[in-house]
Amino acid sequence: GSTPIVMQRNPMFSTINADDITKFKEILGEKNVVQDEEALLAANTDWMRKYKGSSNLLLQPRTTEEVYIFLSCEIVAACFTIFCIRISFPHLDRLFDKVSQVLKYCNSRCLAVVPQGGNTGLVGGSVPVFDEVIINMGSMKNIISFDKVRRRLYMVSGILVCEAGCILENLVSFLDNQGCLLWILVVLFPSGVYFLASIGGGCCFQFSLCCRAVWKPNFWILDLTMPPFRFVMPLDLGAKGSCQIGGNVSTNAGGLRFVRYGSLHGNVLGLEAVLANGTVLDMLGTLRKDNTGYDLKHLFIGSEGSLGIISKVSILTPPKLSSVNLAFLACKDYVSCQNLLLEAKRKLGNILSAFEFLDSHSMDLVLNHSEGVRNPLPPSMHNFYVLIETTGSDQSYDKEKLEAFLLRSMEVGLISDGVLAQDINQAFSFWRIREGVPEALMKAGAVYKYDLSLPIEKMYDLVEEMRMRLGPAAKVVGYGHLGDGNLHLNISLPEYDDTVLGQVEPFVYEWTSKHRGSISAEHGLGLMKANKIHYSKSTESVHLMVSIKKLLDPNGILNPYKVLPSSLTS
Ligand code: FAD
Ligand code: MLT
Ligand code: ZN
Repeated sequence: GSTPIVMQRNPMFSTINADDITKFKEILGEKNVVQDEEALLAANTDWMRKYKGSSNLLLQPRTTEEVYIFLSCEIVAACFTIFCIRISFPHLDRLFDKVSQVLKYCNSRCLAVVPQGGNTGLVGGSVPVFDEVIINMGSMKNIISFDKVRRRLYMVSGILVCEAGCILENLVSFLDNQGCLLWILVVLFPSGVYFLASIGGGCCFQFSLCCRAVWKPNFWILDLTMPPFRFVMPLDLGAKGSCQIGGNVSTNAGGLRFVRYGSLHGNVLGLEAVLANGTVLDMLGTLRKDNTGYDLKHLFIGSEGSLGIISKVSILTPPKLSSVNLAFLACKDYVSCQNLLLEAKRKLGNILSAFEFLDSHSMDLVLNHSEGVRNPLPPSMHNFYVLIETTGSDQSYDKEKLEAFLLRSMEVGLISDGVLAQDINQAFSFWRIREGVPEALMKAGAVYKYDLSLPIEKMYDLVEEMRMRLGPAAKVVGYGHLGDGNLHLNISLPEYDDTVLGQVEPFVYEWTSKHRGSISAEHGLGLMKANKIHYSKSTESVHLMVSIKKLLDPNGILNPYKVLPSSLTS
């Protein structure tokens, strides 16, 4: 059940021929030029199975280093020479950059391309519209450096540099294993001194010692424990098992912890991007502050593959804190959710790490369509559910703070019922409810998705108005990142229906525009909203965007038909 997109293929673009295939095989090696039907079907179809292209070619560029290893097996002497040249002239690396070579060739032949990451995008941006060449970045998945390792004798600052194809969840696991597991227990008996120590991790000198002395009647225990120093990614989303960091940066993904860590515009320190003509733009800085001219990396953050292919990312990762608490709460009405948010920001301050909400309609969908999910609260008529998470460094203090806040909120009637996760498994089960909504919607049938930034006090009015407008023919659900003023308005139907769509659009965009909101808070414009950009951006801004696009990609080969209105780009 996909919705047909009425659009013309741009005749300026060439069609793939046998010479092109030969050339791509020469650049990438046979196995990275994919023409297999099954693989192409998956790469042509988006996560929602709503947008479907008809590309006959999937390219999977691999890391340059792998080519060196291959060469070394084949011709050791040549490899050694290349290696020496490479060490002496690092910029020559570009000559071996696969993405650069592929794009340079596509540009010379005027072949349109779609950059693709984990293909979890929700606006039809990650799949071809017609026969564009798909360049999937999934094989470029090396971690290049982690600051902790490089600057071992200095303070840890948590800068991760990796290739664009790294899966978000793999980066989370990598950072979680960066802890220093050294501990020393010194027992001072009157008769002598005894040490017990365990090391597992190394790099211990960079950690401050957590020293605790306990007096027992006849001996001292001195516990010198290295606190595990782990890190986290500054973003987290339900698609973490599949989405790639390059895709996250290209969509400027928000997610569940935005309220705490903020936008990728703040967390990404540097990028490497390859332009349409193959030029490699090295903006891969690792500095916190750098005001030398225009900060070009920001053009690529959120540009959805329309200005270049992101090949490497440098990102600031915050330390993983030990105390995490999660409450699953019920509220009687939307105003209570809204006031609860105001209070949470005021009372919990900087330990607040997530504030998510879902309405009872979303909850019903999850309970009906997701296996093993149950409502942790006793059955009752609750209209809204809220998840509040705190993350800090002092378990007893943080927990007391949250409990006091929840108690007070219950007393004043902002919360009708609630439960605090008792362990990590229960916390996981609470998150499954919220994270399960998109998948439940998919299972329920066809879905029209809207991802809106709106003034918090107005946000739910739109859901109610839409419900009134559509009547019982459609399920209208509202959920999202309340802490960031980001509503996910979804309309669920047994199948796609143009009459319903006609009632939803342009109403939803006009409503959002009238309230000075954004028609894309975090998912991007993709194909779905390329022609709707004017609802959120001025004519002058759109024209400047088109000029930038033309400057960086004069032939328009990068992700055509997406992001910008077709009337201005073709
Ligand atoms: P893709 O879907 O492959 O691509 C997305 C866009 O980026 C496309 O336009 C593509 O051309 C471009 N692109 C991809 N890689 C590159 C690259 N290396 N260089 C240049 N362009 C590139 N989004 C949120 O913001 N917050 C959420 O909470 C959230 N939750 C989600 C939950 C689920 C279950 C799903 C399915 C999606 C969710 N998303 C969310 C949407 C989606 O934007 C993110 O999943 C993610 O950022 C997309 O990454 P990806 O690697 O899958 O990119
Ligand atoms: C979410 O917050 O769950 C995602 O953005 C996906 C969606 O909007 O459905
Ligand atoms: Zn979201």
